[in-house]
Amino acid sequence: MADIRLSKLHQLNGELTVPGDKSISHRTAMFAAIADGISTIKNYSSAIDCQSTLDCMRQLGTTIRREGQDIHVHGKGLRTLSEPDDILNCGNSGTTMRLLCGLLAGQNFSTVLTGDASLRRRPMDRIIKPLVNNGAEILGRQSNRLAPLFIRGKSLSDVIYELPVASSQVKSAVLLAGLYAAGSVQVTEPVASRDHTERMLAFCGVDIRRDGNIISLEKNRKLSARDFQIPGDISSAAFLIAMGLLVPGSHLRLKDVGINPTRTGLLTVLKNMGADLRIENERSVSNEPVGDILVQNAELRAVEIGGTLIPKLIDELPLIAVIATQAQGKTVVKDALELRIKESDRISAIVGELKKMGASIEETKDGFVVEGPTPLHSAVCNSYDDHRIAMALSVAAWIADGESTIKDADCVGISFPEFYNMVRNL
Ligand code: S3P
Repeated sequence: MADIRLSKLHQLNGELTVPGDKSISHRTAMFAAIADGISTIKNYSSAIDCQSTLDCMRQLGTTIRREGQDIHVHGKGLRTLSEPDDILNCGNSGTTMRLLCGLLAGQNFSTVLTGDASLRRRPMDRIIKPLVNNGAEILGRQSNRLAPLFIRGKSLSDVIYELPVASSQVKSAVLLAGLYAAGSVQVTEPVASRDHTERMLAFCGVDIRRDGNIISLEKNRKLSARDFQIPGDISSAAFLIAMGLLVPGSHLRLKDVGINPTRTGLLTVLKNMGADLRIENERSVSNEPVGDILVQNAELRAVEIGGTLIPKLIDELPLIAVIATQAQGKTVVKDALELRIKESDRISAIVGELKKMGASIEETKDGFVVEGPTPLHSAVCNSYDDHRIAMALSVAAWIADGESTIKDADCVGISFPEFYNMVRNL
């Protein structure tokens, strides 16, 4: 594993196109595999996680061809996946494992899913329970809580579930199982979480409805092949937006970024903090809103973040901790307990590592409190092998005095392999 040494950057100017959205990429690969016809996916994410999804779909019998930057997926319809002759390895990707559980629950064959050490520690009962309660057969280690998971496909009748916590992965898994169900399909979420699954199913011709927080599938549950253009990943763009904001004299334009309102909590928060952010060239691509984000260096003030905003910026919270160290006042993040069960316990990871750099930050049960502004200084930081922790700490290192080391920084490849090169090129 490679460590990286980083020191202060000055004045970043330029125009960048961030790679394709990770969440949307996973879904295109799975949905195109069960659609009728050949789909072309442009700008598929280069993330290692999204490669795990392609590998799993190939093992399930789908022909997937790469042609330059495009991916062609030969879908043959809902009931054409086949039993893999080995275990499916989801690597580090929670989205791959959880969405596949839904996709595989209603098949007429069995599968075994595993992942790396981090994924094998993450809770899978949140997926197993709703699916099993609706007739699926899924077994896991430690009383059906942890992967490896064994799924024996079953025919499902009704699929009805009310989510106790907002989770797009759980919502999507239940909807995917619902595509194979003979009866009613209805999912209720407590707070709106990212809605890429709903948008993409509609784009592919599935009759899906939303009424408040209730999502239901109507009679037509067949998908048709489509050409997908994947927007830039706002969760990757986030780190560059932070650099534009925090490095004096910077002006950046990030082109063709996904600005789905269920993902743009960071932009809302940054505007409330006084950031100079603009969106231009807004349009809809493959049923997802896209635009260019313009950002420049600005003075920031503290804010309070919680409630329904949390699912809209859950992956950006470690970065928000870094940004808050440079804002005037006390930033409070609450209602973010989910952050403790991501690729690492992101609350304890970011608080511990930013303290090493001189930040005034404290952990709470479901978030953190940061007092700013504080100058950061160099440190040797642990990434916990978590891509978003590594990138958030890299941003901190680039605004800190001295030379910092981020341990095992190559884990950024899980979501954003181009990260260090892109910043270097600026
Ligand atoms: C994702 C949903 C979120 C997010 C994850 C990707 C998705 O997780 O943190 O990085 O693609 O559906 P939850 O659904 O568990 O909140």
